[in-house]
Amino acid sequence: MKDFKRILVTAALPYANGPVHIGHMAGVYIPADIYVRYQRAQKRDIIFVGGSDEHGVPITIRAMKEGVSPQEIVDKYHAIIKESFKQMGISFDIYSRTSNKVHHETASAFFKKMYDDGLFEEKETEQYYDEKAKVFLADRYITGTCPICGNPNAYGDQCERCGSSLSPEQLINPRSTLSDAVPVKKKTKHWYFPLQDYEAWLKQWLLEGHKEWKNNVYGQCKSWLDNGLQSRAMTRDSNWGIKVPLPDAEGKVLYVWFDAPIGYISASKELTAHWADYWCKEDTRLIHFIGKDNIVFHCIIFPAMLRAHGNFMLPDNVPANEFLNIEGDKVSTSRNWAVWINEYVKDFPGCEDVLRYVLCSNMPETKDNDFTWKDFQEKNNSELVAIFGNFVNRTFVLMKKLCNDKVPRFHNQLRDDTDQKLIDEIKNSKTKVEHAIEEFHFRDALFEVMDLARKGNKYLQEKEPWKKTGAPAPDGDQSLIDNCIHLCLQLTANLAILVNPFLPHTAKKMCHMMKVEDRMLDWENAGKTDLLSYGYNLRSPELLFRKIEDQEISMQVEKLRANALNQKEKINMEEPKREEKPQIQYDDFAKLELRAGTVLACEKVEKADKLLKFEVDLGVEKRTIVSGIALHYKPEEMIGKQVIVVANLAPRKLKGIESRGMILTAEDKNGKLYLLKPENLVTPGSPVS
Ligand code: 2FM
Ligand code: ZN
Repeated sequence: MKDFKRILVTAALPYANGPVHIGHMAGVYIPADIYVRYQRAQKRDIIFVGGSDEHGVPITIRAMKEGVSPQEIVDKYHAIIKESFKQMGISFDIYSRTSNKVHHETASAFFKKMYDDGLFEEKETEQYYDEKAKVFLADRYITGTCPICGNPNAYGDQCERCGSSLSPEQLINPRSTLSDAVPVKKKTKHWYFPLQDYEAWLKQWLLEGHKEWKNNVYGQCKSWLDNGLQSRAMTRDSNWGIKVPLPDAEGKVLYVWFDAPIGYISASKELTAHWADYWCKEDTRLIHFIGKDNIVFHCIIFPAMLRAHGNFMLPDNVPANEFLNIEGDKVSTSRNWAVWINEYVKDFPGCEDVLRYVLCSNMPETKDNDFTWKDFQEKNNSELVAIFGNFVNRTFVLMKKLCNDKVPRFHNQLRDDTDQKLIDEIKNSKTKVEHAIEEFHFRDALFEVMDLARKGNKYLQEKEPWKKTGAPAPDGDQSLIDNCIHLCLQLTANLAILVNPFLPHTAKKMCHMMKVEDRMLDWENAGKTDLLSYGYNLRSPELLFRKIEDQEISMQVEKLRANALNQKEKINMEEPKREEKPQIQYDDFAKLELRAGTVLACEKVEKADKLLKFEVDLGVEKRTIVSGIALHYKPEEMIGKQVIVVANLAPRKLKGIESRGMILTAEDKNGKLYLLKPENLVTPGSPVS
């Protein structure tokens, strides 16, 4: 491996269109954080950058769904995501956002340089357009049937059922998600990046130069490159995003996948004045932590952009993970099949490391993996509590009981094979954990740490210090007790160092218990067995992990299913089946006498929550009309308003009041009613047609 002076770690910028869930954590942020914490403990020069991805279709879709502006969406979710990372101990040096000014400037300048260097092709093409909504449709806004697996709800860029990348042209029966209209083709101009020009270089750099990359990553890249690359539009028609910095580009923004990875550079700029050392010097090691759906962007498109631009160096590794499923089913935001981090930290306060542990042990490093609540409980109760926590606790309790609450002396002359074996194992564990982390084998690394704790328990079991009589040292039983507890304490200190990258909150607690400063956690201390000195007085043990009860687990399983069910109902409500009425002729319509009227008086109808009684001026006459809008309007705010009335409706009695006409309203998807009214005031009684 090349000799590197510094390390730059990036973790995929999550879309700020929802909170983060355990799939994000296991795939990207936990591995990145383990790696970074380990490198920091090694005292290497490293920065860890991240932030929220705030542009692109995912944001505008969410804004549309919530009925608010994209800005409101990103402000809301950026704050939630940032807090979740903090609580889970993801130790970014900076967690930024792509709506920041520095990012807009950096991404614009990047695009402009490529444009000035003549690296884009300007092309007018026909793209799908929604004539009802009057917008060009991003691929995600188009749905239809997947030509590969037949999924009737595939998107124009991807089928979520079979994972195929698609283009809208491939969809069978395409529809606009905005209006359900059949999209039509319309001309539009965009700037394309001719990826095919970089194909030979990519093959050389990646397929020849990075054979050490993980199989899942290398394989996906190879298949992209073998299939041949094509020009890709780096701009989009939208009003949300970074404006294309060219004079003739009204209504065009940078493609989100052009701007987002540049976000890593912008975040580094925000973090340090020395950002260019990390981005432009060949002796920096750049590592992108991502999920498998981001591989093509980080291994092919972004490197080609960096190469084309020319001022930046390329990633050295992209250890992408596969996906984590939950209870046997794919994580899905739209179906609300997810364990959300902001909810987990509320439901299990103080158990952040438990989730880190479970997600790391189940990390989808080579294939998709499954998270189940039962397994979460099992790993907590029979590994963290029964092995790790138990060993540390026993060691402290025995020290108090058998060694006067102090670190006992180690009587070297009495060291036996069992002691020596443990000393060797402590040393070996350091090497094994170190290698595994450097190779991005985080599950193996964590397994080694737990295995060392297991060996500690075995050692105690073999030594049985509680059975000794305690005759005084140096030759009596007490010296054997001393040696055993001494080594167990050194092992405890080692466990703190080794577990620190994985379970940082736990390592911190252990330092507190051992009354040592955090710098004991420096990696160079791992493997040593003289970390705690003879006679040192330690604190009482704290509970590192608590047992998780069956009831807590069944509540989570229940919650998961209930959330998914609620979501299903919500979706059904959002998309009510429209009741189609039979076609009518103009004569049918002309039978209605519609008139504008002005409300003269309005009051609630007694014993009827929903009804209001109106006096409406219809010009030649005043009418009493009863209308069911009391939940939506207050009587006092109605007076003076104009309304549209069906004036020739046969009279009806409602709660004993004769209602002579009907006031027209429109109903939104949440069931809220809005009055129809003329745009300008008209004379009461004016006809409506
Ligand atoms: O897939 C995603 O969630 C993207 N927002 C990841 C972007 S990573 C980077 F390029 F910024
Ligand atoms: Zn499909």
